[in-house]
Amino acid sequence: MSSSEITDADGRNTASPDKTSSLLGVVGLRKGFPGVQAIADGSFDLRPGEIHALVGENGAGKSTMIKVLTGVHQPDDGEILFENAPYRVSSPLDSLRRGMVAIYQEFTLIPFLSIADNLFLGREITRGGLVSSSEQDAKAREILAQLGTSLDPSTRVASLSVAEQQLVEIARALMAEARVLIMDEPTASLTPREVERLFVILRDLVEQGIGILFVSHRLNEVFEISDRITVMRDGVTVATEETGSLSREQLIELMVGRPLESEFPRGESTPGQVMFRVEHLSGGPVRDVSFSVRSGEILGISGLMGAGRTEMARLLFGADGRESGTFELDGKHVDISSPREAIEAGICLLNEDRKGQGLVLCASALENFALGNLRRWSRFGMIDRRREMDAFEGKVGSLAIKISAPSQRAENLSGGNQQKLLVARWLESDSRVIVFDEPTRGIDVGAKYEMYVIIRKLAAEGKAIVLISSELPEILGMCDRVLVMKAGRMTGEISDLSGVTQEDVMALAV
Ligand SMILES: Nc1ncnc2c1ncn2[C@@H]1O[C@H](COP(=O)(O)OP(=O)(O)OP(=O)(O)O)[C@@H](O)[C@H]1O
Ligand SMILES: [Mg+2]
Repeated sequence: MSSSEITDADGRNTASPDKTSSLLGVVGLRKGFPGVQAIADGSFDLRPGEIHALVGENGAGKSTMIKVLTGVHQPDDGEILFENAPYRVSSPLDSLRRGMVAIYQEFTLIPFLSIADNLFLGREITRGGLVSSSEQDAKAREILAQLGTSLDPSTRVASLSVAEQQLVEIARALMAEARVLIMDEPTASLTPREVERLFVILRDLVEQGIGILFVSHRLNEVFEISDRITVMRDGVTVATEETGSLSREQLIELMVGRPLESEFPRGESTPGQVMFRVEHLSGGPVRDVSFSVRSGEILGISGLMGAGRTEMARLLFGADGRESGTFELDGKHVDISSPREAIEAGICLLNEDRKGQGLVLCASALENFALGNLRRWSRFGMIDRRREMDAFEGKVGSLAIKISAPSQRAENLSGGNQQKLLVARWLESDSRVIVFDEPTRGIDVGAKYEMYVIIRKLAAEGKAIVLISSELPEILGMCDRVLVMKAGRMTGEISDLSGVTQEDVMALAV
């Protein structure tokens, strides 16, 4: 490690990473796939002891960059220098051995093994040919303690929360003596408190001279945690700047390629009659929830992660069985015991978890769009392919979905474009009550704006919108009224949002 001896104000000797040298340098990187140039000219440099944010719109090439660095993909051209030596790796394992570790949103831990077993997988500590569990446990405990957690190494990974699993992934990176830690949207499923804790850990890691590449669409966090920011647009690095020298507006302009006047579309809603009413809904963690939403209204549901919002949405949609509760649509009782019945009644749910539910990864973009909608384009039992394609192209255009061809497999779309594809599918079906569960998670600022425009448009058409969101600016910028959930119950309502601050909403949620 290239570190210099520095004496701090109290005269203590502190080794501080040299923040001017380069740990990892990427110049003129190119990577294409059939039909798309995912990276046309990628470059950035990462210094030891630096948190470097990589941002850009959906499909800009961020994840592809990571996959090249970790040996998932081979570059077509360009130069990568790691600790001043040419860097070429053939597989993720190979990159791990070199000290480059990526942590993705989908974890790679084995759920039914213990923390220690996961940490030592493939590098077991043996004594006389036998795995020494006690030594492994002790070492695991030490590394976990270094991360400020007292998790028991014998705990099964399956019983850990998302944040805890992330910690184990970080612990594994430390065990591999990672020099570069890459995190692709690491905060998407964390509560605000867990995010703070993660940031403390990341700051601690860079103190030790590790370089961190931090990929995120959450610009607040990018500004909070990073030292420098590299912006990619359409596969090209357009800028690397000191974080402190950029304003939010400037960053957005670099990402989108034009200034964005406002992050939320203006729009006056004119809520009409009550369209959908829920009474005494209970099931799973959800306890006795009642509310109604009007035609043309955007009703926000706020709360912390784990407050039961997603579970409530699933009950509304018939995806999980409820213990009690009744639904009324336009004043008439409807029974919803399955997603099929919900869809037939005109209720749809856009889930936060695009991979787990809804998107068929091995099918094409067009097939995913058509799923559940085929009947709309049928005549005399035959699917009218022209109408199907017209509808598809219309939505691809209006949502600005980036695909190379209708036949592109869903798994090869960038994260944000997968999300948009799901929205496209639901918009095509004629629903009257639309529940959005974290609709902009993983979506870039420009696309968020487009999503907001769509939500507003749907409300203007008279649909009843329920918007579940952890992003308070989104709740305040979009909704007519807000309900706050806590521990499975509705604990507050704000019916007039003028002058309401994020703190006001938080106060009801904690
Ligand atoms: N294996 C693949 N095969 C074909 N195309 C791919 C593949 N992987 C990525 N792409 C395409 O390359 C482009 C860049 O995708 P990438 O996943 O790197 O974007 P991203 O910046 O990570 O976006 P997001 O913010 O939405 O996650 C996209 O157009 C994507 O569809
Ligand atoms: Mg990505």
